[in-house]
Amino acid sequence: MAILIKSEREIELIRESCRLIALVHEELGKMIRPGISTKDINDYGDELIRGYGCIPNFLNYNGYPASICVSVNEEVVHGIPNEHRILHEGDIVSLDAGLIYKGYHSDAARTYGVGKISAECQKLIDETRNSFFEGIKYAKPGYRLFDISNAIDEYISKFGYGIVRDLTGHGVGTQLHEDPQIPNFKQIRRGPKLQPGMTLAIEPMINMGRGDVEWLEDDWTVVAEDGLPSAHYENTILITDGEPEILTLLG
Ligand code: MF3
Ligand code: CO
Repeated sequence: MAILIKSEREIELIRESCRLIALVHEELGKMIRPGISTKDINDYGDELIRGYGCIPNFLNYNGYPASICVSVNEEVVHGIPNEHRILHEGDIVSLDAGLIYKGYHSDAARTYGVGKISAECQKLIDETRNSFFEGIKYAKPGYRLFDISNAIDEYISKFGYGIVRDLTGHGVGTQLHEDPQIPNFKQIRRGPKLQPGMTLAIEPMINMGRGDVEWLEDDWTVVAEDGLPSAHYENTILITDGEPEILTLLG
């Protein structure tokens, strides 16, 4: 239950794993348009990951049946790709993807608008992303883990959005989900000290309405209970001596 401090060698491997998933996201982002199915996204993502000689880490994770999580509108995360689920103009779609490179995981998520979307949806997407960057202002030595959580909450709550509390960020390494859990809402304690060599996935999941969620019958898809849109933004980061390195963004 300890937060692992990665060696230089491990960091190199995680860095490469993360660089590759960033490339996958860049390619997937280009294909988002009305008329494609969520399965089209999954299939291209799976092909790209395997093309790099890597393994999609979500596939079969606790029985999850696909390589890319594709979550549309009120779906928060863990949507299951389906050839009959077609993207329409005005939808928003969250893509969550990860891979294993030489035994090391990466994990990242982006939310896109499909064609022209409402100003409200664009703002939700933008502020969800911004909340990640607010959070990681505290992702360095001298601060503690939940300083990140508190910063995300403080930033995003002022818009009246709902923070999803049932899911959290996490450590990333030889496992997709390592300690610690990283909530996106205010904590009473400040949590463990941040130290160089920690690799963490910070992933605010933000609802336009309330933060309450429920699980669909498929046992995977997490949806906003009130049916309003939800956005997700995630990067795997490295704690260093100074500013954090955002491993799943291309330089
Ligand atoms: N990025 C997702 C998370 O941290 C990974 C989901 S894997 C799945 O929860 F298999 F559960 F979809
Ligand atoms: Co994650």
